[in-house]
Amino acid sequence: MDSSFRAELFDFHGVSMTRYFTDNWDNVQNFQARPDDILIATYPKAGTTWVSCILDLLHFGQTSSERQTSISIYDRVPFLEMSVPSVPKGTELADKLVTSPRLIKTHFPVQFVPKSFWEQNCRIVYLARNAKDSVVSYFHFDRMNMAEPEPGEWSSFLQRFMQGKSRYIMKYNYTSVPQSYNGFVCLWSVVFGSWYDHVNGWWKKKQTYSKLHYMFYEDLIEDTGRELDKLCSFVGLSSSDEHKKSIIGMVQFDNMKNNKMANHSTISIMDFKISHFMRKGKVGDWKTHFTVNQNEHFDEDYKRKMTDPTLEFRTEMDISAI
Ligand code: PPS
Repeated sequence: MDSSFRAELFDFHGVSMTRYFTDNWDNVQNFQARPDDILIATYPKAGTTWVSCILDLLHFGQTSSERQTSISIYDRVPFLEMSVPSVPKGTELADKLVTSPRLIKTHFPVQFVPKSFWEQNCRIVYLARNAKDSVVSYFHFDRMNMAEPEPGEWSSFLQRFMQGKSRYIMKYNYTSVPQSYNGFVCLWSVVFGSWYDHVNGWWKKKQTYSKLHYMFYEDLIEDTGRELDKLCSFVGLSSSDEHKKSIIGMVQFDNMKNNKMANHSTISIMDFKISHFMRKGKVGDWKTHFTVNQNEHFDEDYKRKMTDPTLEFRTEMDISAI
């Protein structure tokens, strides 16, 4: 796969997107959700694949255990808005699912979710991950995924992640800029826009939509069993201790990394020579990327953007306590 496959960012209803997630917009917006569908919503790199595997195992692990080793996670849990040339669209895969419930993945900010999910009062699991580890994971993902925009250098990627929104600026101030439109240049963000808007938008939705379970990557790392119990009660399943124990084992980082049906190694647009999809799976890896200056600047900016004291993230954890 050559790099000409990489998509350009553009402003889409106020969110930075690429055509691979907007080309099928009408079908996505008209998607007919069913009352028992479970939507897995995340900002990219929050651990979507991890929670997808957990939910898939919880629902179907006992009745069809071979799913884990014979069907890839993106076929078991279709990516609703995905529309990449030469592969089935997310909506088509979701329509073909014969399971009940259907598990469906989205990276949409809350305002883009098709209305049928709300009308059908579907359960939604939102998984959030701290911003610093998210941006590091996203940077490496954009390096290895030829369908993503070129990430550039780490420092400029971090800048764009913090910027969150695409902004139009008068052209004449800039000499070398990515794109221009009617005399204005656009400083792009990253695909699916602002992490800050995403996690806050979904957090606010939780206050009014009771069937939304908001969870954190760091909590999953800290105690997968505890988070699994919470998921069980949210989806209304009472699994045996033995089944839960086997799920916890199967979704451990190394086991998922070695499972071809979960590690994305069968996707041709991902270049594993550059980076792995299942890369490190840690809390605090950002420390190996952020300089002291970048960290200070990030923290100041973070305080300005994240003003809701009820939404808190952990950027480091005492591993010895786990
Ligand atoms: S995507 O492309 O947005 O769907 O990616 P997503 O699955 O959301 O996130 C990928 C990151 O999640 C890590 N991951 C895990 N961490 C711990 N344990 C398990 N089992 C696990 N599975 C996936 C994965 O390694 C990516 O994070 P980084 O930091 O890059 O390693």
